[in-house]
Amino acid sequence: MKIGSIDLGLRPVFLAPMEDVTDMSFRLMCKRFGADMVYTEFVSSDALIRHVNKTKLKLTVSDEERPVAIQIYGKDVASMAEAARLCEAAGPDIIDINFGCPVKKVAGKGAGAGMLRNIPLMLDITKEVVKAVKLPVTVKTRLGWDMDNLIIVDLAEKLQDCGIAALTVHGRTRSQMYTGQADWTLIRQIKENPRMNIPIIGNGDVTSAEICKERFDSCGVDAVMVGRGSIGRPWIFREIKHFLTTGEKLPDEDFSWYLNILKEQVRQSVEQLDERRGILHIRRHLAATPLFKNIPDFKKTRVAMLRAETVSDLFSILNEIPQINKIIDF
Ligand SMILES: Cc1cc2nc3c(=O)[nH]c(=O)nc-3n(C[C@H](O)[C@H](O)[C@H](O)COP(=O)(O)O)c2cc1C
Repeated sequence: MKIGSIDLGLRPVFLAPMEDVTDMSFRLMCKRFGADMVYTEFVSSDALIRHVNKTKLKLTVSDEERPVAIQIYGKDVASMAEAARLCEAAGPDIIDINFGCPVKKVAGKGAGAGMLRNIPLMLDITKEVVKAVKLPVTVKTRLGWDMDNLIIVDLAEKLQDCGIAALTVHGRTRSQMYTGQADWTLIRQIKENPRMNIPIIGNGDVTSAEICKERFDSCGVDAVMVGRGSIGRPWIFREIKHFLTTGEKLPDEDFSWYLNILKEQVRQSVEQLDERRGILHIRRHLAATPLFKNIPDFKKTRVAMLRAETVSDLFSILNEIPQINKIIDF
């Protein structure tokens, strides 16, 4: 499938944009394991046009991670267009607009998924961002605001008419936040709509190679995007790509193979930030990893692991974890 002129191959699998997760080192790691496209954390258009330093740092992309999309959010047409221009200057391959973030500080102010309650403004922003840049512009959103407003099938056409190059749909409403199960029924309906011709990227609860293949097969999506399933498990992309190409499950590696990847993530995080902030940052991955799931009486070690404050303490704890043979059914 293609987004603009970017050829992403057959059945590509993308790393979802995730705040505080998809920094450059994590994106590169997922890329190494086969992610076909990666996205930055979302970037506030307002902060960007005010030249807030911390926000500008999020625009840094590297050649090794291409194709990479920078994602922006906001609720004002002019600042979104200006922010898109600033992002374009940072050299990504795609500009993605976030109309899906459900958290109060974003959606409550009308940005992110809040835009699902103001479709005319959503469409204006989309049109102006498309006009403002030469790069392909894509949109990521949800099924609708709530179960009484499942508007995505109709909205997809309207967004397409604004000139976007692809659409990602997370199969939940804003009201659901991250609860319940993602529903891909409407994502399939978008694909079945003969008026639609842009690629559709399906997202929500893809946590294994088998689920990913099932979503491609039953919904006909052009790409699948994986979010939480990659936290503490960047190797999921390798498992998925292997399964999609061969139809067979990739054999497990040794326990130490997975552990070394997690340790590499710790090292990178500390290098990038500093010891204290790097460890804080990587705790989310250590807490989420399925690697330790089958280890008996792990609770005490888990608490110690998530409390460690230095790399040396953390690595001593990780090195003491008994190496189980049967990893788990990831
Ligand atoms: C910690 C976290 C941060 C997220 N940040 C963003 C973001 O910056 N932009 C965005 O479009 N979605 C964001 N999301 C939503 C994900 O991109 C994705 O749509 C959602 O998690 C559903 O996919 P999954 O079930 O594969 O995780 C975030 C999700 C999580 C868990």
